[in-house]
Amino acid sequence: MNQPLRLGVAGLGTVGASVARILARNGEAIAAKAGREIVLAGACARDRSRDRGVDLSRVAWHDDPVALARDPGIDCVVELIGGEEGAARACVEAALAAGKPVVTANKALLARHGLALARLAEERGVALAFEASSAGGVPVVKALREALAGNRVRRVYGILNGTCNYILSRMEAEGLSFAECLADAQRLGYAEADPTFDVEGFDTAHKLSILTSLAFGVALDSEAIYVEGISKIAPLDLAMAKELGYRVKLLGVAERTKTGIEQRVHPTMVPRTSAIAQVMGVTNAVTIDADAVGELTLIGPGAGGEATASAVIADIVDVAAGHVRPAFGMPAGRLERLERAPMQRHEGGYYIRLSVFDRPGSAAGIATRMAQGDISLESIIQHRARSADVDPTGRSGTPVPVVLITYATTEAAIREALARIHADGLVAEPPQVIRIERD
Ligand code: NDP
Ligand code: HSE
Repeated sequence: MNQPLRLGVAGLGTVGASVARILARNGEAIAAKAGREIVLAGACARDRSRDRGVDLSRVAWHDDPVALARDPGIDCVVELIGGEEGAARACVEAALAAGKPVVTANKALLARHGLALARLAEERGVALAFEASSAGGVPVVKALREALAGNRVRRVYGILNGTCNYILSRMEAEGLSFAECLADAQRLGYAEADPTFDVEGFDTAHKLSILTSLAFGVALDSEAIYVEGISKIAPLDLAMAKELGYRVKLLGVAERTKTGIEQRVHPTMVPRTSAIAQVMGVTNAVTIDADAVGELTLIGPGAGGEATASAVIADIVDVAAGHVRPAFGMPAGRLERLERAPMQRHEGGYYIRLSVFDRPGSAAGIATRMAQGDISLESIIQHRARSADVDPTGRSGTPVPVVLITYATTEAAIREALARIHADGLVAEPPQVIRIERD
């Protein structure tokens, strides 16, 4: 058998400790698949004294991830620290510069520096592997880069953040608060070190930029993504979605359009009977629509230590077997510049919840502004106000929620109409706007 592959694992938190535990548990079977033994030779974290649930007594400890990367006793560096700069970036750059393959789950780092890191890996002739960076345990990176290499992709979209899907699922099913659900997602190891990245949509955007590059053969450009998170989704929106036959999901969508590649991340109303609406909890789902294969959906655990470590180990096995592929499916120099489709041209249906002053003429004023924007309304829903708020004369103007569902229109038309409704003094608060995805 060949020489063992000596791993240096930087970061022994949720994912790193799981990688070490799976290697200890399944080492023999993994070695058989890799063609050689894989040993945990070095490790690094902030707190050496913390119990990681795995025997580290024969592992070389480093306090500094760069020192770990440069250690001549390490053949392959597994970066599981996280963050787009700082220790994670320094560790990966040091490893690649030393001609060592790198395995990472760090989508923030890749979204920001993926192209430069891919170039560095190519120069040194080593692998930069990142299956775990997108959709956790779901093998979507390999699917796009290898299994679908013969296709021209039209669209890739899905639920890419386990934390958000877990929060939305539990808020809807159990009526729990946003804060309670987020705290549970953190306790279960799903959330990022800074959960703002999850709930404000940035983590989904990082993953989407990686998938866009793989799907369309373009350079990563996370700045070109329109991003909205779920932190402003109210229980009322989830209840209205249910009443209207929808469910709210945070989707990442990348699509080839006439004006370029549209990339967007936002809460979305999806038909309650659709396949994507059935994806609940920490599960992720990615649908790829391509010319040869047609439509393909991958569904599985999107976050959590063991599921993510499963993807990390798949990359380690590739490295051990000597596979070196261009990180984003083709040499970095051949990736095209991403032509950005402006969000203002996005077309689709909209859910709009307004807090309307309940007085004569309000509804007519809103309908007029929508009609002026050539926006057709599929339905208007106004529930009776709480009895405590009801003014028997109907003249006080107490704000009441009014929900509009539009037929397909453009983002520009919706923004313009809402700005006019606001300027007319018809609403008490900024509107809630949720895009509808009907197919
Ligand atoms: P954790 O926060 O659980 O673990 C981070 C680890 O990095 C800890 O062991 C920490 O040390 C160590 N660390 C932090 N800063 C330093 C530093 N300056 N020097 C050395 N070590 C450091 O993160 P996760 O395991 O959840 O995530 C790791 C990576 O995997 C991230 O890029 C994340 O985005 C990605 N990922 C995570 C998934 C998940 O479900 N959790 C899923 C997919 C990807 P110590 O333990 O001593 O504090
Ligand atoms: N915080 C991420 C999520 C981890 O919840 O999806 C997986 O990338």
